[in-house]
This record gives sequence, structure tokens and C-alpha cells, in this order.
Amino acid sequence: MLRGEILLVSGSLRRGSYNTALLREAANAMPSGVGHAWLDGIADLPHYREGAPAPAAVERLRRTIAAADGVLIATPEYNGSIPGGLKNAVDWASRPFPDNAWHDKPVAVIGASTGIFGAVWAQAQLRKSLGIAGARVLDAELAVGSAQGAFLPSGALRDPGLATGLRSVVGALVDALAPPFSRDSALRHGCPATPKTGPPTTAQAVRHATK
Ligand code: FNR
Repeated sequence: MLRGEILLVSGSLRRGSYNTALLREAANAMPSGVGHAWLDGIADLPHYREGAPAPAAVERLRRTIAAADGVLIATPEYNGSIPGGLKNAVDWASRPFPDNAWHDKPVAVIGASTGIFGAVWAQAQLRKSLGIAGARVLDAELAVGSAQGAFLPSGALRDPGLATGLRSVVGALVDALAPPFSRDSALRHGCPATPKTGPPTTAQAVRHATK
């Protein structure tokens, strides 16, 4: 049965990013029936300016987050905090408040850094900001420290404990998705306007899972 679609957000724009690699592994760990999509366009966002009309890139960001059934964010740590570009995206999507794209959205935060603590400060700050913006932020966490040695050539996590931890975060996020799936996701996939009353048809579920 279709259970929803998770939006993957990497806080790093770096080619070869460990956080993006972590999200790739998270996507591999998703159960059948759960789709995923990648957020792009963070680099296209202008600096947040209150009162200015939202440009197309911002409207796209808000629509994409609002349409997701859940969001998984992997953040690096820059000078003890989250990257400015990621914070800018969080802020743009948090307005208009309180009925914004984050409102009641299940969100899990994980992170990787080349330092030994695995971006724990950045993760904590991101959870705080998302909570203030209105997201339903999960307690689940995963910190991948010394990220330059954390991945096998296959892309899998070298440490089985971290691999189990990643599956556990993904599982917690899947469990938090709106049952049976959100209105926006239903509309995107051609279901009737009252999707909460029942699951999609088999044909709709297959179309979604294989897209
Ligand atoms: C870092 N890095 C870093 N690491 C850390 O553990 N704590 C920190 O405070 C910082 N600060 C910091 C500032 C800036 C400006 C940069 C560019 C880097 C190192 C960081 O963990 C490393 O570059 C990661 O590889 C970034 O994640 P991605 O790009 O691999 O996903």
C-alpha cells in the first residue's frame, strides 16, 4: 500500500557531500510503498527579505515542502551551526506563519561532519528552528562523525551500528507519515479530493512507487 513520499534535503551543496551520501543510504533503506524525491534549488534562493514578494524559486520551495508527506534533512556543521543556505531555506518556507509549508510536517534530522561529533550542534539547532517554524520534529537522530572514513566504496555506512541507526530514523519517519497519506500527495497522484477516507487504488500505488 502507498504510504507516502519523503522529501530528502541535503544541507550541503558540495560535490561529493557526505550528507548527500547519507541521504542516498536513507533512500535505500526506505520500505516498499514509500517514495522519495530530492529537494533541489536551495542554491537558487535569494537571501530572505521580509516583506519582499516571493520569487519563483521560493514558491517552488514552499510547494515542494508542503506537498511532501515527510521530510528527511541531513545537515553538515559549519562553525558549530547549520549552513547559511539551509537556514535561509527553512526561513523562506516558514512564512507566512503559522500556516506555512512546515506546519505539522513530520521531519527527521540527521547529520555528518568530518569532526568527531557528527554535526550534533547543527542538528540540535536545526531541530529547534524547525520546531519553532511549526514542523513535527522527530526525536530520532543520527550523528555520523569522521565522515571522510564512514562510508564504504559501495556507499554503505562502514559502521553497522550507524547503518542500524539510519534504518531506525527512516522507520520512525515512515511511521510518522500522515495516515494513510496526505491530501497534497493524493492530489499529486490523481486521487480524489478526500483521500483520508481510504487508501489509493492498486494502480495508483504502483504508479507512485515506480515513478
Ligand atoms: C566545516 N566543518 C566542520 N565540521 C565540524 O564537525 N564542526 C564544525 O564546526 C565545522 N565547521 C566548518 C565550517 C565550514 C565553513 C566548513 C566548510 C566546514 C567540516 C565539515 O564537517 C566538512 O566540510 C563536511 O564534509 C561537510 O559536509 P559535506 O559537505 O561533506 O556534506
